[in-house]
Amino acid sequence: MEQAVIETDHLDYAFQKGDRILNDINLRVPQGSVYGFLGPNGAGKTTTLRLLLGLLRSENPGIHIFGNQMPGNRIDILRRTGSLIEQPSLYLHLTGRENLDVFRRAYECPATRVEEVLRITGLSDAAHKKTKAYSLGMKQRLAIAIALLHDPELLIMDEPTNGLDPNGIIEIRELIRDLNRHQGKTVLVSSHLLAEVEKLATHVGIIHQGKLLFQGTLAELQSFQHRHSFLEIEVDNVVRTEQILSGRFPVFIRGDSTVHVGHSKPAEAALINHMLVGGGVGVSRLCVMGNDLERLFLDIISA
Ligand SMILES: Nc1ncnc2c1ncn2[C@@H]1O[C@H](COP(=O)(O)OP(=O)(O)OP(=O)(O)O)[C@@H](O)[C@H]1O
Ligand SMILES: [Mg+2]
Repeated sequence: MEQAVIETDHLDYAFQKGDRILNDINLRVPQGSVYGFLGPNGAGKTTTLRLLLGLLRSENPGIHIFGNQMPGNRIDILRRTGSLIEQPSLYLHLTGRENLDVFRRAYECPATRVEEVLRITGLSDAAHKKTKAYSLGMKQRLAIAIALLHDPELLIMDEPTNGLDPNGIIEIRELIRDLNRHQGKTVLVSSHLLAEVEKLATHVGIIHQGKLLFQGTLAELQSFQHRHSFLEIEVDNVVRTEQILSGRFPVFIRGDSTVHVGHSKPAEAALINHMLVGGGVGVSRLCVMGNDLERLFLDIISA
């Protein structure tokens, strides 16, 4: 098994006594992974990430990053970690390059690093512009550039695509992918969008009401989803549909023209369609159901 960069051991947290926000979180972020930390609003994502960075204090944290204990070894850990938790405070009257230079001096990084992080984040051409003229996506990339100044091995980002338009989301996604694949960074990134995590992550942790409901590779999540998804099919003959499919697939008649069919692999959707059409059934709609986050939570909770 790959080495873990982040490990938490039964992590709990309460803002007020008795009001537990996090419950028994055993996070394991493997080295070299993009770990998608997925959960709906209020699930506890930000609280978890703040604890990992030592921005919140826990009585009994059991947090290890690079094998060092947080908060005990905070400085050693933060030297090797870049983060983007809150909106960054940028100097809007300064250019992108000047902003980086301010932080670069504060962090005592070599001057050459400024051009490097501009290049990595795709901001070289915009570096001479005042950041007040930057789009939200560019500001976000500049914030990531700042987080990269000290060349950290680990990046922790809380919903970095929040508020961005589709193009901005793609840019950040590609940047994260590049940081992981070509710069060798381990990335822990939170999101409330399953589709986003699926496009980006190698590993996934699903948090719901302060509990980690699922943790594994993306392939493990997808196999879980496929086991729990079904096809909703609109047909012109539900009786004939049942005759054709039953024996091979579980079929449930849901209305005069709607059936639900259990399937386990994506390729089976094509086969089912083929069988129906070949058997003379008119298929007007075929839809894979059960892949949305809400449904997934329900399935995981009831599994
Ligand atoms: N400072 C605070 N004091 C008290 N309760 C808080 C505080 N911050 C967060 N909470 C509560 O802790 C729970 C988890 O919040 P958290 O911000 O970690 O969730 P999240 O998964 O990041 O949600 P979102 O997707 O909305 O950002 C919520 O019920 C929230 O109301
Ligand atoms: Mg949050």
